[in-house]
Amino acid sequence: MGRLEGKRAIVTGAGSGIGRASAELFAREGASVLVVDRTEHAVQETAERIAAAGGRAVPVAADAGRQEDVESFVARAVAEFGGLDVLYANAGISGGDVPLLEQSVELWQEILRVNLIGVFLAIRTAAPHMIAQGAGSIVCTASVAALRAHAGGNPYSASKAGVISLAQTAANSLAGTGVRVNAVCPGLIETGMTKPIFDYARARGTEANLGQLNPLQRYGLPEEIAAMALFLASDDASYVNGQAFPVDGGLSSAHPFRRMPRFRPAPL
Ligand SMILES: NC(=O)c1ccc[n+]([C@@H]2O[C@H](COP(=O)([O-])OP(=O)(O)OC[C@H]3O[C@@H](n4cnc5c(N)ncnc54)[C@H](O)[C@@H]3O)[C@@H](O)[C@H]2O)c1
Repeated sequence: MGRLEGKRAIVTGAGSGIGRASAELFAREGASVLVVDRTEHAVQETAERIAAAGGRAVPVAADAGRQEDVESFVARAVAEFGGLDVLYANAGISGGDVPLLEQSVELWQEILRVNLIGVFLAIRTAAPHMIAQGAGSIVCTASVAALRAHAGGNPYSASKAGVISLAQTAANSLAGTGVRVNAVCPGLIETGMTKPIFDYARARGTEANLGQLNPLQRYGLPEEIAAMALFLASDDASYVNGQAFPVDGGLSSAHPFRRMPRFRPAPL
């Protein structure tokens, strides 16, 4: 039996990267999945891949940061599946690499709209359906950028720190309802969002450097984030609530350092 057998799920940002890998994994584990993305052909493709693997998926093109769209796709999931057990609010944008002193208010507003207010809207709209049935799991994608600098621009990091805070506060606002809220903090993962970084490194022949700052000394794959999202979404995580989990090869476990291969501390 799958770990999400019979569950009804929504995954946003499911047209690419972490969202697509998660939607496919959720469906393989038995969930019916409403796959949401602003890119219509991408979300269609995700749904086709799930269907081809024998799963059930309904594609919806929508803006995860727009209230009307969120209300519409949550209502669609409930209508299609007869309820809602899992929400993975994963859609996000990076906002690029604009220097702090050149960042506009519009840039900040757009990143906060999609990455943070979109997650709030999804929780606010989905939670009542979960409360009505006395159980549900909400998973949000934050980032290691929420924890420290140098993993994204200022508004991106601030938006993701907000996602961690929202997971903590929402879990407590929903106390006594049976609805859990948690966040995942991915490290460097090869997806559509990080394609420019990977393309640049490959063009320069420095691909081997990617992910070298974490103790596993490699970058991550979308499936490795999907595995954590699956755990948090499932009943295996029935006592896990209000937490944010780095999945980053150990990157956030250390202070910055320079690796010196020939350095060996003298024995005591
Ligand atoms: N890739 C990484 O290294 C990394 C690290 C930490 C956190 N994250 C986060 O993981 C999440 C998934 O990103 P990814 O890396 O898979 O990137 P991705 O670009 O491959 O996928 C993101 C998807 O979200 C969709 N999307 C963006 N804005 C949307 C909106 N307003 N409405 C609906 N869909 C929208 C995009 O169309 C895209 O398909 C994001 O929240 C991102 O911030 C990624």
